Parts: sequence; C-alpha cells; structure tokens
Amino acid sequence: MCGIVAYVGSKEAYPIIIEGLKRLEYRGYDSAGVSILNGTMNTFKCKGKVTDLEQVIVKEKIKGTAGMGHTRWATHGVPNNINAHPHLSGDGNLAIVHNGIIENYGTLRTALEKLGHSFVSDTDTEVLIHLIEEIRNTNDLSLEEATRRALQKVVGAYAIVVLDANDPDKIVGAKKSSPLVFGLGDGEYFLASDASPIVKYTDKVIYLEDEEVITIHRNGDYEIRTIENELTDPEVQQIDLNIEELEKGGYEHYMLKEIYQQPQTIAESMRGRLSADEGWAKLGGMEQHLTRFKNAKRIILTACGTSWHAAMIAEYLFEEFARIPTEVEYASEFRYRNPIITPDDVIIALSQSGETADTLAAVKLAKSKGAFIYGIVNNVGSTIPRTTDSGSYIHAGPEIGVASTKAFTSQLTVLTLMAIILGHLKGKISEGYYRQLLSELESVPSLVAKILAKADQIKYIAGEIRNTSNALYLGRGYNFPVALEGALKLKEISYIHAEGYPAAEMKHGPIALIDMYMPVVVIATNKSAHEKIVSNIQEVKARKGIVVAIVTEGDTRIKEMADFTIEIPYIEEPLSPLLSVIPLQLLSYYIAVMRGCNVDQPRNLAKSVTVE
Ligand code: AGP
Ligand code: GLU
Repeated sequence: MCGIVAYVGSKEAYPIIIEGLKRLEYRGYDSAGVSILNGTMNTFKCKGKVTDLEQVIVKEKIKGTAGMGHTRWATHGVPNNINAHPHLSGDGNLAIVHNGIIENYGTLRTALEKLGHSFVSDTDTEVLIHLIEEIRNTNDLSLEEATRRALQKVVGAYAIVVLDANDPDKIVGAKKSSPLVFGLGDGEYFLASDASPIVKYTDKVIYLEDEEVITIHRNGDYEIRTIENELTDPEVQQIDLNIEELEKGGYEHYMLKEIYQQPQTIAESMRGRLSADEGWAKLGGMEQHLTRFKNAKRIILTACGTSWHAAMIAEYLFEEFARIPTEVEYASEFRYRNPIITPDDVIIALSQSGETADTLAAVKLAKSKGAFIYGIVNNVGSTIPRTTDSGSYIHAGPEIGVASTKAFTSQLTVLTLMAIILGHLKGKISEGYYRQLLSELESVPSLVAKILAKADQIKYIAGEIRNTSNALYLGRGYNFPVALEGALKLKEISYIHAEGYPAAEMKHGPIALIDMYMPVVVIATNKSAHEKIVSNIQEVKARKGIVVAIVTEGDTRIKEMADFTIEIPYIEEPLSPLLSVIPLQLLSYYIAVMRGCNVDQPRNLAKSVTVE
C-alpha cells in the first residue's frame, strides 16, 4: 500500500507534497516522510501520521521546488522512524520512496553487503536505492538509466520515485503492480499513487503501465521507457474528479459522509442504465459481450473483503435470476489453488480501489487461461479495469473512509442489474417480474434515505451495546453475506470481535458463546424462512442474548421478542441487502465513535491493499 507523491515545478514543493500526503493517507499511516531537493537532499521522516511529520519539519530546511513524500503501510520492518521512507543511498545523494514489496531483497542485500554497502533499516526498499547507487556508480550512468537497470534485477511489486541531490531538475519514477500516475500541469509536474493529490492542479494525467520508467524534467520534457529500454508513446487522459468530492463536506468523518451519500451514489450507479417504465436495462460494458454472458457455463466472482461479500450476494442473484451456476472465490485463494478455468467461464472481478493486488493477480491468472474477464470497479482509471476484457464502473465517487460503505451498495446495485439483465436475456424471469424488479431497484435510493433518517435510533442502540467485547451477526439467504459485512464493519473500526453466521448455523457451534453479555444482530427481513429466523431469535433469547433485530416495517412479532429493533421498508428479498446493510453501517460507525476509535483510519488497515 503506501501513498507516494512527488513534484517538480516552479512552486515550493513542500506544501504541495504535505497536502498530497494527507489525501493519500488512506493508503497507509504507519509513518510519513519527505525529501526536498535544495542543493542537498533534505529528508524528514517519522513514525505516525502526516500531522506528526509536520511537527518534526525544520521549516528553513524544507525550501525547494522539487521533492517527494511517502505515507507508509509497513510490510518489511516495524513502523518506526528509521524504517520510514524516503530511504537514502549509502552516500546520501539518492533517495527513494516505494509502494510494494521487493521480494528478492534478501539476495540483493547480501550481494550488496559483499560489495561494501551497509543498511540502516529493515525494509526491502532501502536495498533498491543501494542497488541503483551501485549500478550507477559502477557504470557512470544517469539516474534513470541506473534505475531502469536496477529494476531488471527486482522481483516483486513497486511504484517508486527516485531523486538525486545533484540533479534538482529531474524526478524519476517507475511502476510494476503498484499504481503510479503522472500529472501534467502548467509548468509543474506530479507523480502520485492516485490522482487525488493532482486534481487541484491539473486534469491531465498519464497512467503508467507495468515495468515503465518515467523521467520528468523541470522544463516539462518527459520520457517513458520500458525497463527493456523501449520508448513508449503514452496517451494523455483527462480525469473527471473534482476537489469537493475529496473533502468531508461538513461531516465529522468521511465514513459518515459516505454512508449518507448512498441515496445519491446508488442512483449514480444506475443512472442511464435502466428504465422500469420503458422496460429496459443495459450495462454498456455487457452490450458487446451478451452472447458470451448468455452462453457462459459458469460465472466465477472473485474479490476480497467487502467486495467479496457483494460477490456472495451476486451468487444468489445470478443463480436465482439467470440460472447460471455461480461460484465466489477469495482472490487470494483462487490465485494459488490451481483452479479449473475454461474459455466458457465468465470471471467477474470486483474491487472498489481497482488496485487490490490479490484481485489483480486473480484476473491475470484467469486471463492467461482464456476466460472472459469483467471488472466491476469504482476507481476510474485504476489497474483492474485496464486489465479486464470489459466492465462497468460503479460510479460511487471517491471512497476515502477505510471501511467500505457506499462502494458496497453501488457494487450491489450493478450486480443486481447484471443479474436482472441476464435473467431477462435468458428468458428465466417473466416480463412482469423483470419490470417489477427494475421498478423496485429504482426505488432503492428513496428507501435508503428513509433508513438514514433513523440514525438517532441506531445511535441509541449503539450506546447500549458499545461496551461489548464480542458480537454475533446472523442472517439467512440474501442476508447471510450482509451479516458477514456487518461483522466486518464492526471489527474494522471498533476493534470488537464480531462474527457473521448463517442464522441456522448458530446451533452448530456459535450458540455456545451466547450469554447475557452477547449482542446478536439478526437480519430478519426475509419473507421466505421468516418462521425459521423467528425460531433462531427465540434460541438466542432462551440463552439471554441481547437481540438487535433488523426487521421489515410492521413486523410486530419480532419486535416483541427482540431487545432492540430497527425497521426498514419492505422490498423484494433479492434486493433487501441494499437496505439491510445501511443500519449495520451506522451501528458500527456510532459504536466506533463512542469508543473513541479512529473511524476513517482504523489501526493496521489501509484502503488500497496493493501487496499480496
Ligand atoms: C472494507 O471495509 C475493507 N477495508 C476491505 O475488506 C476491502 O473491501 C478489501 O480490501 C477489498 O478492497 P477493494 O474493493 O478495493 O478491492
Ligand atoms: N515494502 C515497503 C515497506 O515496508 C513498502 C510497503 C508498501 O508499499 O506497502 O516499507
């Protein structure tokens, strides 16, 4: 993970870099650091957040119009001052920031030690800057040439920026598997992990491809070569991202803003893609490939974390509406277990960030086996949509809170639409049901708004259970993955141990955990199997568990049994996860805030997991 930002231009680099690092902090916040070129390499770094870094900066030493910064999510070496980036070469003239893992760093380090190099940190990154230094000094090469040759010896993933104290008019960057974007401003140039530090200055960018090295000169000349030294002819793209989308907009946390945005973001995900009145639905990315979808022998959805939960719901949707056998795979497992994939399979990769290393690796594997790959991604221009055969953006806008909320509901919206389209295409759902589903989907934004209006009630319940150390989440059918998602949200941001289970599985083990201190959140909106879930609630109550039930409006029966109930509007069951997840997001948000946790940047996590 890690966030990288670099600048060369006519302005003071430091304020631009610090502001950029704050935007990238969602990618990691174990430590932060900057190097500014000003005759010498002025480097400041420390454990902690960007605001901690600001405290250790010596203002007089930070003047200069070229430099770079880094915010770290540690992979090699504990988060401390020494392991913080930038890392320096042996003579202190070269500096590097890095996102990724140099997998063969041990071998490289031993070889460099034999040549007299000594290392101060435990990171893999420091080895790379010494390797560049060694190659450069031995062969008397330019910085870019030495970097290019060094990268030929590297196994692993990297997005890097390298600076030379003796050449303040040039920055060099490169990438493989981790993202790097080049921003072309007016007399100023940027490199960054994503466009968020750049949009304030320019909307022109080039997304670097794997194994490309870019050299940017202060006068605006730039050159991109592959590590095999072939000159490339990249396309300058225009990005459509405005700065307000990156602000908190008056909310206390990004997560709260993103929860509240859902009526709009769900609407955005379906804008121009359906009309219940006119009886049509389409996804641009599917149009060219309808035969492929129609003839698919199997659909495999692959993803991680919250995106994997959305994929699980899609399994129910695809099988129910389109009657296509569907499987869901953790991308990390899929990749390493030698799966059977045939050209008749359709693989759907789901990712908010579009950068998740495990998901990307799964995509590449499936591609190598000839399958058709469809991406469902939020982050426009990220790596996964550039690697898949086709796909749909979910258009939820930037999601900055580390805990995913609005991306989940937008993923579900697009997946539901896909399943409805496929069901219709294959003649597996009637025309009447098709129109009904489309109409219900169109009503989701206003129903979500109704649930959000109950925030105070949910906050009250949060206050009642905030001191628990454990929680169980139960759901059946479509709402089982929602139970998993509710438990993940609570774990991530409040550090309360929580588990999601299919409600009927409780009696096979977890029931042993239930006592008067155990909150059990039950998603009980199902029309089918309602009796069964009522029995599950009785089983919890018989053991004195505290039941928080999410029920359909008017369900007085469960209300009488549960300790707390949250009513949500009725919707057809396959669409119910779009509503039932909302109170769970708010519940975990309020519990985390009441426990004094850092909601937007929970410990040990990062938003974009670009390491395996
Ligand atoms: C969600 O709250 C998590 N932070 C995490 O599980 C996330 O969903 C996962 O890392 C996948 O990310 P992606 O959607 O960007 O691929
Ligand atoms: N491997 C480097 C480190 O631990 C970079 C980590 C990352 O990009 O996540 O410092």
